[in-house]
Amino acid sequence: MEASMPKRKEPGKSLRIKVISMGNAEVGKSCIIKRYCEKRFVSKYLATIGIDYGVTKVQVRDREIKVNIFDMAGHPFFYEVRNEFYKDTQGVILVYDVGQKESFDALDAWLVEMKQDLGPHGNMENIVFVVCANKIDCAKHRCVDESEGRLWAESKGFLYFETSAQTGEGISEMFQTFYLNILDVCEHGGKRPATNSNASFTKEQADTIRRIRNSKDSWDMLGIKPGASRDEVNKAYRKLAVLLHPDKCVAPGSEDAFKAVVNARTALLKNIK
Ligand code: GTP
Ligand code: MG
Repeated sequence: MEASMPKRKEPGKSLRIKVISMGNAEVGKSCIIKRYCEKRFVSKYLATIGIDYGVTKVQVRDREIKVNIFDMAGHPFFYEVRNEFYKDTQGVILVYDVGQKESFDALDAWLVEMKQDLGPHGNMENIVFVVCANKIDCAKHRCVDESEGRLWAESKGFLYFETSAQTGEGISEMFQTFYLNILDVCEHGGKRPATNSNASFTKEQADTIRRIRNSKDSWDMLGIKPGASRDEVNKAYRKLAVLLHPDKCVAPGSEDAFKAVVNARTALLKNIK
């Protein structure tokens, strides 16, 4: 890794931060960092062995920030090496591959690993997380859509970006916003600004959208038993419609979930006498 951001004399005090990358093997963590720091892309897979470390300087507002980047290996084999490096982190780049559902499903386990290693006194509240939905250039193979990823990230108060290390799409925007958020946290005395931790939708809305997305049929979608009456269908529908109506719900994916609920109700009522 090489320092590559333009350098400029800063009036503000310089700052030193530590950021780490996290996510399954082969999702593109090293390539995202390489794209940003070296402006290039390597298509051959070179697995990170344990940890790769680099330093770069960036200018954010009036501050010069010295960034220590610890690029982690995603393979389970390197767990013992990784667990040394979670502490004293200000920012996490959490990456999954949009064409690989397992890498998205694994995000929770990555948070658990980090929390475990930080121990009972470790505080993750003041760490800035950015989720990168990577490899968006491979549109044909995409199986995790934007609203699903965004919903997961935003319901945790994390930043979310769609990226491609191959084309460079989203990479500088992601890093700029990431560093700005870290700087805000540092300038707020180590606390995440309120806007960053408060999602603009409720947990109930997020959970309902996820449940609807994973439902196996129209009954399941409305949360009622097969064979339920017209009244029960309408009651369940009304409850969901109030929760997810696009005028009331801004959670990612709410519009599709609302449409799906409308269609489920129509389909069920057609067959109930
Ligand atoms: P580990 O170090 O093993 O944890 O993997 P990693 O997450 O660092 O993955 P790495 O950056 O090495 O990339 C893995 C493979 O995916 C390589 O073959 C890359 O060329 C490829 N790759 C990474 N990012 C992209 C991308 O945005 N688009 C495409 N098409 N391929 C990518
Ligand atoms: Mg790597």
